[in-house]
Amino acid sequence: MKTIKAATYPIHFNEEAYTNLSKLIDDNKYSTLFILVDENTFEHCYPKFISNLSTTKRIEVIEISSGEIHKNLETCMGVWNAITELGGDRKSLLITLGGGVITDLGGFVASCFKRGIDFVNIPTTLLSMVDASVGGKTGVDLGVLKNQIGLFANPEMVLVDTNYLATVTQREINSGTAEIIKYGITYDTNLFNQIKKDKGLGITDLIYRSIEIKNEVVLQDPKEQNLRKILNFGHTLGHAIESFYLESNDKENLTHGEAIAIGMVCESYISSKLLGFNMLNVNEIKEVILSIYDKTRLLKEDFSDIIELLKHDKKNINGQVNFVLLEAFEKCKLDCKVTEELLIESMDFYNA
Ligand code: GLY
Repeated sequence: MKTIKAATYPIHFNEEAYTNLSKLIDDNKYSTLFILVDENTFEHCYPKFISNLSTTKRIEVIEISSGEIHKNLETCMGVWNAITELGGDRKSLLITLGGGVITDLGGFVASCFKRGIDFVNIPTTLLSMVDASVGGKTGVDLGVLKNQIGLFANPEMVLVDTNYLATVTQREINSGTAEIIKYGITYDTNLFNQIKKDKGLGITDLIYRSIEIKNEVVLQDPKEQNLRKILNFGHTLGHAIESFYLESNDKENLTHGEAIAIGMVCESYISSKLLGFNMLNVNEIKEVILSIYDKTRLLKEDFSDIIELLKHDKKNINGQVNFVLLEAFEKCKLDCKVTEELLIESMDFYNA
């Protein structure tokens, strides 16, 4: 697969990407390679990674616990301490090998350590391949509030090896699929139709097209002043729902994609009410999503807590919650305001 050129870094694919990584390491004369993993990627991905890498540099593996609940500053402290104790310096390279938690947190750790060391992202889940590892967003959660602490920082390279997908569960694949559906709805209806029909493009092609789209958007608006906001479709309500389930003691957590999928159904419905988005399309989106994800019953008594969490969305300005809504497929309207009544109605629509 052809290398995709992002603003300051290449996105290489599959086997030949390892040659590019080995060359990057040689060319830059890095002092030490720190590989950030969790217990799953250390067991299932690290052996493949290390056997493909050709280098004589010192390699140190730093392992953190998997899961969104560990995507916080405390984990960053542990990694910074480990790098320091292992003699990390400004010419160290941090390689993130994992899903969105690892790539987001690792990029943040690298960007702050000694005011910034180089990092390379190697996403191992579908979600991190099609979204998190590309585009320069790094960061961690603050309590249950998603990605509240972070900065924009680009990696030196992204290495996408789709073989790593064999190491993840179907639930994780579905989680990443939500982002592909989002690209389809907001940017490329053909992509949406491919998923709808569940035929045509294979997973590798879906990944490649998704990364192309993300890169095209980010190249035009790297700091999310405008166009990049379309990538937040479904995420305003989706993040609030994800946070609500994260902080709830008696409910199983939703994956990011499961929450965003609910958010996309609700925000499509809101779009029909506010912007005349065709109700046939809303139903089509709901149908596709319910064909992939089990229905989560949102309890009426939880609606107000979910709406309360919207107050912390990163896109808010002057206390106003900003939604990305749809006028049509591939036609988004940014910075829309939505009443509490309509938010409730949209969750009722999802439940119905
Ligand atoms: N995940 C949305 C973005 O990177 O802008």
